[in-house]
This record gives sequence, structure tokens and C-alpha cells, in this order.
Amino acid sequence: MAWYSEEQIEQVRQRSDIVEVIGNYVRLKRSGSGYVGLCPFHNEKSPSFSVSPARQMYKCFGCGVGGNVITFVMEYENYSFLEAMEYLAGRAGIELAQQEMTAEQKRQESLRAMLLEINTKAARFFYAILKSGQGKQAHDYLKQRGLLDETIVRFGLGYAGQGGDSLYRYLKQQGYQDSVLKETGLFKMDERGVYDKFWNRVIFPIMDINNHVIGFGGRVMGDGKPKYLNSPETKLFDKSRNLFGLNYARQGKRDYLILCEGYMDVIALHQAGFSSAVASLGTAFTELQANLMRRYTKEVLLTYDSDGAGQKAALRAIPILRRAGLNAKVVNMEPYKDPDEFIKGLGDSAFEERLKTAKNSFFFEAEVVRNTYDMTDPEQKTTFYHELAKKLLVFTDKVQRDNYLEAVAAKYTIRKEDLRELVIRYSNRMPEGYEQERPDRELKRSRKAEEAGIEYSYRLLLSWLIEDTSLYEPVSQLVAPEDFCEENYHIVASMLYEQLARGGVLPAKIINYFQDVEQQKMAAQMFQTNFQADMGTEEKEKALNELIIRIKEYSIDHQMRNLTDMEQLQRLILEKKQWQTPDKLHISLKDG
Ligand code: UTP
Ligand code: MN
Repeated sequence: MAWYSEEQIEQVRQRSDIVEVIGNYVRLKRSGSGYVGLCPFHNEKSPSFSVSPARQMYKCFGCGVGGNVITFVMEYENYSFLEAMEYLAGRAGIELAQQEMTAEQKRQESLRAMLLEINTKAARFFYAILKSGQGKQAHDYLKQRGLLDETIVRFGLGYAGQGGDSLYRYLKQQGYQDSVLKETGLFKMDERGVYDKFWNRVIFPIMDINNHVIGFGGRVMGDGKPKYLNSPETKLFDKSRNLFGLNYARQGKRDYLILCEGYMDVIALHQAGFSSAVASLGTAFTELQANLMRRYTKEVLLTYDSDGAGQKAALRAIPILRRAGLNAKVVNMEPYKDPDEFIKGLGDSAFEERLKTAKNSFFFEAEVVRNTYDMTDPEQKTTFYHELAKKLLVFTDKVQRDNYLEAVAAKYTIRKEDLRELVIRYSNRMPEGYEQERPDRELKRSRKAEEAGIEYSYRLLLSWLIEDTSLYEPVSQLVAPEDFCEENYHIVASMLYEQLARGGVLPAKIINYFQDVEQQKMAAQMFQTNFQADMGTEEKEKALNELIIRIKEYSIDHQMRNLTDMEQLQRLILEKKQWQTPDKLHISLKDG
């Protein structure tokens, strides 16, 4: 595997002018100190995509994408980081010298290669048992669930036999060391010996987008527990950044992806001709998975289970999809539980019909919220309207927000002027989407939600510092890079502070500190948070001060959590008190 040094990456970035490169794909018009055009990553009629030559960054105010010249090419051309580097280097006439791998890198590479080989062998082993006499019951089970033989072959389904260590013995015969086999996650190893992790289960190999087997899921044939057993995370298998079925779905011709919950849903849908179905892997849907989907589509149709848990999962996934710039719709599976059962019950064309009538995800969310209120009670009805106003804040594009506002005002019979007034009232607070909204309002906000909130604050402050560099002086006196308590933010803040102290801001350079694609996108996202542009100085001042207090308090709490020394605790308590003094302005934005 090739890789490039930081200097080389930086050289390619510097020699690839962002306006020139993006200008090849998008018609850009000069506007102030930058350029604007129609965003290539979402459908729009008026330009909200802007390119800054000074910062060498692009950013879309409509769908929220952003980054530097390298991430643009990756996004637009579906290139990997290395491909983007090669493309840009070629364009700029730079010869890329490949770096020699270190001994450790070589070792990791060959371990990965070996793990892939073992997984492929294991998948073939499971398939062979399924086809043998030993696999008859499993084969009958799959048949009884409606799978055709060609589907079984296409998805490489198999059966892990009765024996305790047959896979282990097979792989040992092939000469693999225990130390390597241990890393596959296919075995339980303890003082008593080594056992196969999967036995007497139907096997679903999990493939990455390049058709490599990276892990397995196994289902009991009947009611045993757990219903599905999955490979643990390994050097190859990262559940948060893979989707079951995406290797096939990405080749599909449809301009949407269908997101389901289960292995069987994906397989049944593909068999029925809906080859754009994918599933998250027995874990909650993640931001990384959303980013992965965005490489292949702009629209995601959610077909989660129609029970309470499925609805909850949909409510979790929608803001994640939205933040990734994907348009989400919710498909109604009633009266069936999931797509697999739906197709069996009502057939392909009924399913196709459901896809066509999928509900706009915002309307879906609004409806769920509405159902938690008794609309005949004036108090509850009022609260609902307030909740609705807060929800509308997820739309940062003014026209888009207005359109939604009008639609829901009509639907829930409130005058749009009144609803707009509520929206404005809430518009200088944190948008709801960043708080990971939960339908069950009784539940305390989880630690995770708190983190999502604090990360939003970090992004806001970083974006603000880039927007208005004169804030660096006063802000840096109050907030240190160490006050960003999440590692990636800490790294980015340190680098940005360093740049600001030297007097030149280049967020584009910071992004390439991260070599991992998803991390780069995350870093780019850190600079993409929009402020309400129409805020007055006073409101702005108030918002900035609130922001700083939020970050400081969180930082102090964070330090307190990891503390044993009483004296230091005292000091922190005092410090926190100082931050909590009401109405104290820490930074003034007014002149003089
Ligand atoms: P479901 O419980 O909805 O099962 O789990 P299902 O997909 O309908 O499965 P069938 O039709 O009964 O065979 C949805 C998904 O959650 C993960 C699996 O990926 C499953 O497909 N899961 C579920 C687990 O990882 N472990 C479990 O014990 C259960
Ligand atoms: Mn099912």
C-alpha cells in the first residue's frame, strides 16, 4: 500500500488552487472576496456553495459539506485519499515519491492480508458445510425463509457445524499460527483450549465495499439466544464504518439507498430486486456510516421496524443522515414488522409503492412529537408549537426553512406568522438537531447527548475564530486548546491557535493533518458551523459569552471527573463559580 509524507500532501495541496480545481466542475462566480456557485452535492436553484481562495476551503451553506481541495476531489469523484492525491499531483505536475514502509507498517499490512485470507477461507468452509449432508437442516431453514439457491450463493451464506473446533482444526492444517487466528475473532481461546465462536448457526458473511469478507453474523435456527451472534471488532472489522450489502448496493442503478435493520431484510430485498438495500451491523447507525452512504447517493429511505424500537432508531438516524447532507425519508412497513416480512406478505409491487410514498423525514419527526401531546389541551398544544419551532432550526437555508415552516403551519393549524415568531425566538440557541433529540422527554439527557452538545459548541467557537480572527486575542486568554476535551477537537484547536498566533489562518492545512478520510471529513466539519448571520452585535456578544462559559464549565467538570486531589478540587470549584457569575461579560464586542 502506498502512502505519502505530510510534506508531500501539503505540497500537493498548495500547488492545487482550490478555485481552479473546483472551477472545472462547478461554474463559479466572483462574490466579495470569494466565489459562489450551485452546490454539486445537493440539488439547489440558488447558489449556496462558496469557495474561499484565501482559506483554500469550500463550504455549502445549504447541505453543510465542506473541506479543502483534496476532500473536494474525493467527494466529487468518489476517490480514495490516495487516488485524490495521485489525481491532483498529476494535474499539478508533481512526481510523487512513495514512502518506504516502516517495518511495523509492513507487519500490519501482512497481518491484514492474512486476516482477509483466513476470513475468505472460513466463509468457504461454512458454505461447504451448508452444502454437505451436515448442513441439511440449515439449508432447509434458509429455504423455508424463502431464499433461492442463487441468493444463498450471492451472499455466500453458510452453516457453522455442530463440532466444537472444526474450523480451528481446518485452519491449523493450513498452517496458521494461533497468534494470527486469535486476531480473527472467530475463536474463543482460554486455558482449557480453543473453540469455534460460531457453531450450529446459519452464517452471514459481512463484506466491505470491495467484496472482502471482514466479519460474520450467525443466526440460531429457532428461538435460541442471542438470535444473532456477530464477529467482534478486529483489525479488519469496524462495525461503525461498514454497512451490510453495500458492496452490492453501490453497483445499483437507483438514485437512493434503502437502510434496514437486519441481514435478512437486505437479502430478501435484493432477492426481490431492490438491490440498493443495506443494513447497519447490529449496532446503532453511525455518522461514519452516513458519510459512507453519501459517497453513493443523496437520498436514503429508512425501512426500520415498525415497532417502538424501530421508530426510536429512525429518530436517531434522521439527524445523523441530515448532518451528512443526505435527504432522508421514512417508509411505512405497517402492518408488517420489517421489509422481509412485508415482501413475503404483500409482494414486490406493494413494497415499490411504499417506497414511492415514503414520508419526508421532517414530517415524520414532527408527527412523532405531536403524538406525545394531547392537542385538545391548550397548554400541551402550546408546548407542541414551541417544540415544532425548535425543530425548524435544523434548517439553516432560509428558503428551505420557510418552506417547511409554511407546510407544518398549515398541517398543525397555526398561523405561519406566529410560528415564525417562535422560530426567531429560539434561533439564537443551539439547534435541536445537535442535541440528538429523543422522543421520550422524561429521560435525562445521556452523556452522549451532552457530548454532542459540547461538540457543537466546539465547532461554533472554532468557526467563529476563523470567521473573525480578531477574536483570537480575547478568546485565547479565556479558552485554551486544553479546554477542548475531545481528542480530535483538541488537536484541531491547538493547530488553529498556533496558526492564529502567527497571524495566518489556513484551516485547509489542518484538515490534512488527519490522514484517515473519515477523520478529514470530521475535521472539515469542525469549521462548517453557521452562525445566524443576521445577529446584532449585542446578541452576538451574548451568544459568544454563553458559548465560552459552556466550554469552560464543561472543561472544569471534565477535569473534576478525573480528580482525586482535594486541593485541586477546591480550586476547580472556585473557578467554576467564577464562570457562573450571572451576566458577567467576559468578552466585549463593542468598540472602545
Ligand atoms: P431483529 O431482531 O429485528 O431481527 O434484528 P431480524 O433482522 O428481523 O432477523 P430475523 O428476520 O428474525 O432473522 C435486526 C438486526 O439486529 C442485529 C442483526 O444484524 C439483525 O439482523 N441483531 C439482532 C444482532 O446483532 N443480535 C441480536 O441478537 C439480534
Ligand atoms: Mn426479520
